[in-house]
Parts: sequence; structure tokens; C-alpha cells
Amino acid sequence: MRTETRVPLSRPYLDEREEELVLEVLRSGRLSLGPAIERFEELIGERVGAPYVAAVSSGTAGLHMLCHLRGVGPGDEVITSPVSFVATANCFILEGGVPVFADVDPRTLNLDPDAVEAAITQRTKGIVVVDMFGYPCELDELRAIAERHGLWLIDDSCEALGAEYKGAPIGSHGPPGAFGFYANKQLTTGEGGVVTTHSEEEREQIVILRNQGRSYAARWFHHVRVGFNYRITDLQAAIGIAQLEKLDRMLQMRSAAAARYTELLADVDGVEVPLADDADHKRSWFVYVVKVAEGVDRDAVVQSLSAQGIEAGLYVPAVHLQPYMRDRYGFAKGMCPVAEDACSRTFALPFFPHLQAADQELVVDALREALSA
Ligand SMILES: Cc1ncc(COP(=O)(O)O)c(C=O)c1O
Repeated sequence: MRTETRVPLSRPYLDEREEELVLEVLRSGRLSLGPAIERFEELIGERVGAPYVAAVSSGTAGLHMLCHLRGVGPGDEVITSPVSFVATANCFILEGGVPVFADVDPRTLNLDPDAVEAAITQRTKGIVVVDMFGYPCELDELRAIAERHGLWLIDDSCEALGAEYKGAPIGSHGPPGAFGFYANKQLTTGEGGVVTTHSEEEREQIVILRNQGRSYAARWFHHVRVGFNYRITDLQAAIGIAQLEKLDRMLQMRSAAAARYTELLADVDGVEVPLADDADHKRSWFVYVVKVAEGVDRDAVVQSLSAQGIEAGLYVPAVHLQPYMRDRYGFAKGMCPVAEDACSRTFALPFFPHLQAADQELVVDALREALSA
């Protein structure tokens, strides 16, 4: 028998404004390649401090096109993080690139710059860095490594809309990147994403690639390169515009919910709360990921929560140990010990802007009980 969900893992925060703007688009008859997309791009650019933005069908699509534009080819090595979602590596594997996983910093769970530098070989072409769980990575150090070795760098900022590094938003620092707008993200369009770049030429190429290589001047059926259908619709862009209008409030609500969890968990033994911000790193709260102490059976804890209708997620499994990675490349345990340890002990608690304080208490009580069992 299926347990009834009492506290879901994630929920989008939507109101009448999304309905109003979607209805406007429906009534306008411009469902794709229309003005809502351009408006959404402009507004995102302003929000994250990126001069050029192209809206696309997903964060993965954005990352894939950025890798495609860098000419990743068979045998090219690309260094990335094992603590991420598979899309980060897939975006260059799809181009023939070979994933090289560098280990992470145990505090931030983002790429450890020293490990990245140690992983560089003659065949390395680029680095895809990740701002995992909305916590900014060591962008300046990683960028300096890339520059020193003549490598390109892409920022997978899919989880980090609203995060700040050294006082400026992720997206404003220079390296191109992608944000993702799946339903659990800080801002959602259902599915969707944007590429942010500081190069006008790059934005043009993304616009061409997302629309089957159609020329930037958009002459009807005039195709200048091989492309993809990675278009977003105006209906999605309309949802995105409504979400952007209340983004600050939603981020504030997420932040307040995170602070409540941290407070409630202060006297719970056997579990570590997420890393706090410092002067250089301001997290945008995407998920609330806790880590159980060594020796605690994390899976049993998650199972015990789920038996009580509390949705907790095994978030995230190490990418290099996914079945297809083991099969294709022979990757095995021991390659990235810090990441493997973290991924075997972390999980996500229910988390979304309008999560109620009473539900958080329920979650923490259940967690305390599971940990003491
Ligand atoms: C770190 C990371 N990279 C890439 C993606 C891919 O984004 P999308 O699901 O929009 O394709 C996600 C989304 O879940 C993500 O969390």
C-alpha cells in the first residue's frame, strides 16, 4: 500500500499572475518565437547581470549548445564535478567528449580547484564547473586555472539563480553558463532554461542553434548550420516573467525556510546542516541537503521518513558511479573519495518557498526519531 504524502519534497510557487500572463499569450496567438521570450530574456539578463541571454528548452539544452560551440569532439577530455546532476557531463559526452571527474571540496561540495588542476592532461579541452545546491563554486580560482592551461570554462549554474559570488550575481562574472527552470527550481517555467553569456556573438550562435541552425536574421527556412530544436515556448516564457516578478520574495521565503530547518536541527544529533554563507559565497537556497554522521544508515533514515509520508530525496548520487558511467568508462568507487563519501551520506529534506513551519517541525521530529532508532 502506498503511503500518503504528508510533506512533499518540492512544490512550485504559483499564483494568479502566471495564469494571467499565460492567458495573454494564449489569446495573442503567438505561442512560439514571440515577444514573451524576448521580454523574458531581457528581464533575466537584468536580474543576473548578464548582457546577453538566450532562452532555451532546458538547462541541459543550454549546456549542450555551449559545449557544441566549443567544438568538443571525440576523445576530448572535459573536467567536471561528480557531485552534480548527470546533465552536466552529458552535455559534452553527447559531443564525443570524455568525462574526467575531479574531486570536490568536502565543505562546499563544489569542485576543488587543486583537484581540477591535477586532472589536466594533454587531451583536456575545458572545464564545466557547477554551483551545486545553489552554492557558488570557486569561480576565480577555477577560471585562473582554465586561463593558465588554455582551456574553456562553462558554468553549470542550473541550480544557482539568485546566488552571489564575491558580491555579484552568478551570471555576471563573465564565463558563459546556463540556468535551469524545471519545476523544483528557484524559478520555474515547467521545463526551460537560459544561456547567459557576455559575448554577443555567442548569444547569436545559440539563437541560431536552438532553432535548427536558422539564420540569425531569421529568413524563412534559411539554415546556416546544423542545429537543434531547443526552443522554449512563449507560454513558458510567460510563466517565467510572472515568476521573475516575485523571485526576490520566493528566494526570501526559501531562505527563511532554510533558517528554520537549521534552527530546528541545532539539537538533533547525527546530522550536519548545509554550509553557511561567507563573505564570498551567498547561496541561493535550491534544496536543503543534510549529511548524516559516519556510521548512520542514511538509506534507512530516508526510508523511515518516507514511511511517514515525508518525501526525502537521495540527493545526489555520485555521477561517475551511475550505471552508464561504470559501463562506458569503467569508473569505480575510489576515484573521487570526498564526493563518494558526501554522496553516500547526504539527502534532501522537503523544501520549497511556502513550506509551512509546522511541516518542518514534523519533518525534524521524524528525522530525530529515525536517527535515534
Ligand atoms: C546541476 C544541474 N545541471 C543541469 C541540470 C539540467 O537542467 P534541466 O533539467 O533544465 O535540463 C540540472 C537540473 O536539474 C541541474 O541540477
